[in-house]
Amino acid sequence: MDRTAQLSARATEGGTACGPPSPATSLHVRAARVLAANWTGASTVPSRSLYPHQWSWDSAFIAIGLRHLSPLRAQTELETLFGAQWADGRVPHIVFNPSVPLDAYFPSPDFWRSSAAGRAAGAPRTVQTSGIVQPPVHALAAWLVHRADPGLSRARGFLDRLYPRLAAWHRYLLHRRDLGGGGLVSVVHPWEQGMDNSPCWDAPLARVTPAPARSFRRADLAHGAPGDRPTDLDYGRYVRLAADYRDAGYADGGGRFAVEDPAFNALLIASEHALARIAGELGAAGTARRARAERLTAALVERLWDPVRGIFLCRDLRGGGPIGVRSVSGLVPLLLPGLPAGIAAALVRTLRGPHFGLGGTTRLVPSHDLLGEAFDPRRYWRGPAWFNTNWLLERGLRAHGERTAADALREESLRAAGATAFAEYVDPYTGEACGATGFGWTAALALDLLHQPLEAGASPTAAGTFHRDGRG
Ligand code: SER
Repeated sequence: MDRTAQLSARATEGGTACGPPSPATSLHVRAARVLAANWTGASTVPSRSLYPHQWSWDSAFIAIGLRHLSPLRAQTELETLFGAQWADGRVPHIVFNPSVPLDAYFPSPDFWRSSAAGRAAGAPRTVQTSGIVQPPVHALAAWLVHRADPGLSRARGFLDRLYPRLAAWHRYLLHRRDLGGGGLVSVVHPWEQGMDNSPCWDAPLARVTPAPARSFRRADLAHGAPGDRPTDLDYGRYVRLAADYRDAGYADGGGRFAVEDPAFNALLIASEHALARIAGELGAAGTARRARAERLTAALVERLWDPVRGIFLCRDLRGGGPIGVRSVSGLVPLLLPGLPAGIAAALVRTLRGPHFGLGGTTRLVPSHDLLGEAFDPRRYWRGPAWFNTNWLLERGLRAHGERTAADALREESLRAAGATAFAEYVDPYTGEACGATGFGWTAALALDLLHQPLEAGASPTAAGTFHRDGRG
């Protein structure tokens, strides 16, 4: 049994041979219980109540944590998602579970009509999906899952089977979504970027005529407090954009919303680095992928870096260019090992400064500028702290030598996850739980953080983290 398996076995038993469970061990057990409760047999729901299907970037983060409990389940999680990939390479943001009632979640499969409306784009016939995408965390997740048990991965041909699918996914993004012509990928809906109601979208969304309230019925308010969720006006605009995209046969390029986002592109770059590692594992050089990741990093800096604010900005391709709003999305590129040192240092200063307050007024990084007019500590992506972005920033701080700050962020993430029963997000000042509890990626990423120091002590190459040189 390897060290990771020993740790999992001890934790599952609820303690060590020497005595009662430590607080860290019991957090491990509680996180494992959330992931067991949310497991459907082939994938993991983000939340049994609020999100009862499979979500794309949730599954990638969940696989990163699941690998510590069961590398097989972690592999299966990604395989199930990629089983719903479209022929044009896109990975849909939701894969619907046919046993869940239609009215349990909106927009349901009958809204997206993937197999009819998405026929030209090659939507699968056997499973129903949405037609939009989410951030490409998958190759990074696949590499980390492989590293958790390379023997099992090789025996099952996990990377052999997944690599062509991951490559097709990146090809779709790079070739069909470079809507600005500058080398970066655009999102065509706020749900694609994942931070649905971020104030970054206020200006581009203001141009969208909302669908009438009577034309749809939200299911989220049956499970979440209205003050924690997007408004009805937001939903009207989300529905209009999604319906227009669907009615255009999910063809790219013509929509009213097109934004280059720093987090989405940074995650693509991190995943290109991971694909290079995967190519290496499969016997190829990976040189072209590394070169592409470097070119994308240069384009990210050239098109989205704001040296005055010390943060990356979104670029609105249908309106006024750079969107002058400070969001956690603009900090996520800190994840990248190849970021110029001066930019990484400026991002760390911004994280610690008054707009995000890390180590001062806040202990977890908020999703939006604390001093911004739109800041709201509870409302979804307009201020609350989320565990996935904090996990990415913890990695980023560590990758750029900020070990003390990374350790503090790790500790606080674990404390907040445990204190809130694995909340979906928290008030960044009080730590109070918002949204759903028993949330999949919160539990999974807490597990990953719990494993980090033991792994690092075991072997520098088995750490499973994204190192400065891009190794996992
Ligand atoms: N995040 C969206 C929701 O709240 C859709 O992906 O349902």
